[in-house]
Amino acid sequence: MASELIHRAQASENRNPTTSDSPTPTDLPENSARPTTSRMLRARLPFLLVGIAIATLFFHFFSQPASLTPTSDSFLESELVLPTRRVLLEEATPSLRGKIGKVPSGLRGKRKRILVTGGAGFVGSHLVDRLIERGDSVIVIDNFFTGRKENLFHHFGNPNFELIRHDVVEPILLEVDQIYHLACPASPVHYKFNPTNVVGTLNMLGLAKRVGARFLLTSTSEVYGDPLQHPQAETYWGNVNPIGVRSCYDEGKRTAETLTMDYHRGAGIEVRIARIFNTYGPRMCLDDGRVVSNFVAQALRKEPLTVYGDGKQTRSFQYVSDLVEGLIRLMEGEHVGPFNLGNPGEFTMLELAQVVQETIDPNAKIEYRPNTEDDPHKRKPDISKAKELLGWQPSVSLRKGLPLMVSDFRQRIFGDSKDALGNAAQ
Ligand SMILES: NC(=O)c1ccc[n+]([C@@H]2O[C@H](COP(=O)([O-])OP(=O)(O)OC[C@H]3O[C@@H](n4cnc5c(N)ncnc54)[C@H](O)[C@@H]3O)[C@@H](O)[C@H]2O)c1
Repeated sequence: MASELIHRAQASENRNPTTSDSPTPTDLPENSARPTTSRMLRARLPFLLVGIAIATLFFHFFSQPASLTPTSDSFLESELVLPTRRVLLEEATPSLRGKIGKVPSGLRGKRKRILVTGGAGFVGSHLVDRLIERGDSVIVIDNFFTGRKENLFHHFGNPNFELIRHDVVEPILLEVDQIYHLACPASPVHYKFNPTNVVGTLNMLGLAKRVGARFLLTSTSEVYGDPLQHPQAETYWGNVNPIGVRSCYDEGKRTAETLTMDYHRGAGIEVRIARIFNTYGPRMCLDDGRVVSNFVAQALRKEPLTVYGDGKQTRSFQYVSDLVEGLIRLMEGEHVGPFNLGNPGEFTMLELAQVVQETIDPNAKIEYRPNTEDDPHKRKPDISKAKELLGWQPSVSLRKGLPLMVSDFRQRIFGDSKDALGNAAQ
């Protein structure tokens, strides 16, 4: 509009006799037409002025819709704010034209617009599969630090799927109904290099506030640190070293939880918090220092399984499809959380090594190494709250789930063609 007006102004300047093709006064012969022209102009001037006044009044009263007539402060809002919001909403939900702010759930179409940050990663890509299968429209943003496009190849070309290369430490504006915030390197070898937790979470909370989306944070059992309570319930505040090598992750997630609750209390946004315990399955990053992927890759390569410390520290292992089910139930449910999402089956590292030997190679050797700093001694979720309020509990045991990830790992390590992306594992 602005450029159009500028253009019109230039056009009328061009029509001015002093700059147009018509002869200028200096082109005319001396003492000939000049007195006649000026007499004519003087005679026509009153008519010209009356004409301009009528045209001005006409445009003032009839050129704008009544609702946008600048009679009050609402003019600024209508003119400057509404059009931006309206365009975004019109693209996605035709029935909501002209409305702003949070979209009442009853008015939403059946298909939701869902943002999954970190959706090219291990958990994120399985979550995307489920959401697309359910008929939702999914946007993934990922910087591919630990994720891979290959995890999402099977959705390329689907009009309900979009993938954007973006780092969540930078703001982004997308009109969506729900945000699953997973973007964050989750393994020790990667998270030391990345400040995603705090800055990325802040940006995604800002986005949720701006578009009125529901926000789910994927926090972690690491918020319990080296726990003094066993098993860990959500009421336990944890035992975390704030300055250790793992604290960028542990404390980063704790801060992310704090920010999430502050945005909930202070800005009224709908939030959900999941505290995820060790999860495994197809598409896990190879060689990222997480114990299940380490053991499986080592057994397949005929390398010794490296056990840190005496191998008596315990963990619980959840198959990825159970986690995805828990995340979706949490997002769709009425409770903020935090909720522990994990499998309460507890294994020592040596027991896990034994299951890997049984599944892949009975002759695989075990090699002991000194333990890493701040490695928790015990980890086991108390999932009573999730059972009661989400009606959720895991259903895939370690002995059933482990073989489901082996074919995917075998393919990625040796290039076998069978079950390349682990889709059968869903
Ligand atoms: N897998 C587990 O056992 C486990 C346990 C506890 C918590 N979690 C949490 O679940 C989430 C997903 O974990 P995962 O196991 O799938 O890890 P992953 O590393 O496979 O996935 C993380 C994804 O986030 C992306 N990412 C990282 N930093 C980013 C950034 N700054 N901007 C955009 N994208 C970025 C990565 O490229 C990757 O695709 C993480 O937040 C993690 O902390 C996972």
